[in-house]
Parts: sequence; C-alpha cells; structure tokens
Amino acid sequence: MGDKYTRFAPLYDLLSGEYPIYHAGRVLGVTALGPRQDQQVLDIGCGTGLNFALLQERIGTGGTIVGIDRSAQMLRQARRRAIARRWDNVILVQADMVLEEPAALSGRIAAAGGTELSDAALATYSLSLMGDWKRAWETTTSLLGTDGRIGVVDMQDPQGWARWLAPLARLACALGGSDIHAAPWRAVEEECADVIRTSARAGHLQIRAGKTVPGRTM
Ligand SMILES: C[S@@+](CC[C@H](N)C(=O)[O-])C[C@H]1O[C@@H](n2cnc3c(N)ncnc32)[C@H](O)[C@@H]1O
Repeated sequence: MGDKYTRFAPLYDLLSGEYPIYHAGRVLGVTALGPRQDQQVLDIGCGTGLNFALLQERIGTGGTIVGIDRSAQMLRQARRRAIARRWDNVILVQADMVLEEPAALSGRIAAAGGTELSDAALATYSLSLMGDWKRAWETTTSLLGTDGRIGVVDMQDPQGWARWLAPLARLACALGGSDIHAAPWRAVEEECADVIRTSARAGHLQIRAGKTVPGRTM
C-alpha cells in the first residue's frame, strides 16, 4: 500500500478520480467537521493535500493544518502545494498512524511548531487503507483536546440504482489499496456525540463528523 503511494504520488491528483467523484466527499466532510477560525486541524493520511484549500477557507491564516502521512513522496506533493499557495500555516509530519505512539506523535507536532493537542481531525479516504484503522482512530482521538471534533470520509459499495456500479467501485478501491468493506465511519457513530451523517455519489461516499466524548470507546 505504502509503495503504491510512493510510486504514484506525482500522478495522484490526476488519477485519483477527484473530479467528478471524490471532491464532493471532501467538501461535505469539511462542512460537517466545521473547523473554525484560528483552529489547529489534523489531516490524517493527508496525501498530496487535496483537503488543504477547503480547510484554509475555514481556519484562516491564524489557524494551522497538520498534515500527517506515512509516505514521504505524498508529503512532498503536499509541501509543493503549500509552497505554491504560500500557505505558511501548514505543518507536515511523516508518521504511520497505526504504528506511531500517540505521545511521540504529539511531541513531534509540537516540535514542528504546532500545539500538542488539536481542535479537530479529518480523515478523507485514508482510514480504509490503514489495515488496523481502529488503532489509527485511537491515535487520532488522543491527539484532540476537549470537545475536539473528528470527521471521516470513506467509501462503500454504491447503493440503490447505482448498485450495478459496485464492481467498478470495488476495482477502484482495490487499485488504491483501500478496503471497501472497512466502514471506518462507524467509529464516529459509536464514539462521538452530535453526529452529522451525509453521503454522496449514490452512497459510495459516506461522511460522518461529531464531537469526541471522553471515555466512550468502540
Ligand atoms: C487514498 S490516499 C488519500 C489522501 C488524502 N486524504 C485525500 O483525500 O486525497 C491515502 C493516503 O493515506 C496514506 N496512508 C496509508 N496508510 C497510512 C498510515 N498507516 N499512516 C499514515 N498515512 C497512511 C497514504 O500514504 C496516502 O497518502
């Protein structure tokens, strides 16, 4: 999985089906997450930084985006994007969200200029690639402060009239290395309060966001 994103990082934006399919999910995800001016937002498995523009509109120049990804090549694309757009409030951290110890990761974020705890976290099309995504979820929630918000955007088989497209969706997910049956948004439903639920592209894209509740676990 990591190798795939290493080799194809420069082509990711072109080949990932951003328009007309996946962009809709990130717009709904950022809206549901609702980050506010001056907040620090984690972008989990940020890839090339396709969420950054939408997040910047919400947090402004006083806020901070912390993009975390295990692929140095994807982060290189994200850095290029930030430099081209003159976003000097973007911190990029190379880390494996399944393997990295939460305390070590928050220390690395602080060392890079952020604060140890963030206000919100967003994971778009990334948890379903991570294998033990529950571990990545736990690490993410432990990096949030009180009343932190978290949003998940991920994929499943298309529903209803579009069910005939399921083989195509499964192929696209398999090529991207993600498990279409992972359904990581369940964690938001089971652990968060005030959950917002939306979907797009005939249910292929599932969007959830909510407020973390201390002590509530899956
Ligand atoms: C399909 S891409 C999505 C990128 C971005 N979130 C987006 O919406 O375009 C998945 C990303 O997750 C990253 N990734 C996969 N497993 C990871 C892990 N265990 N820890 C951190 N990043 C991971 C990959 O390197 C890749 O950049």
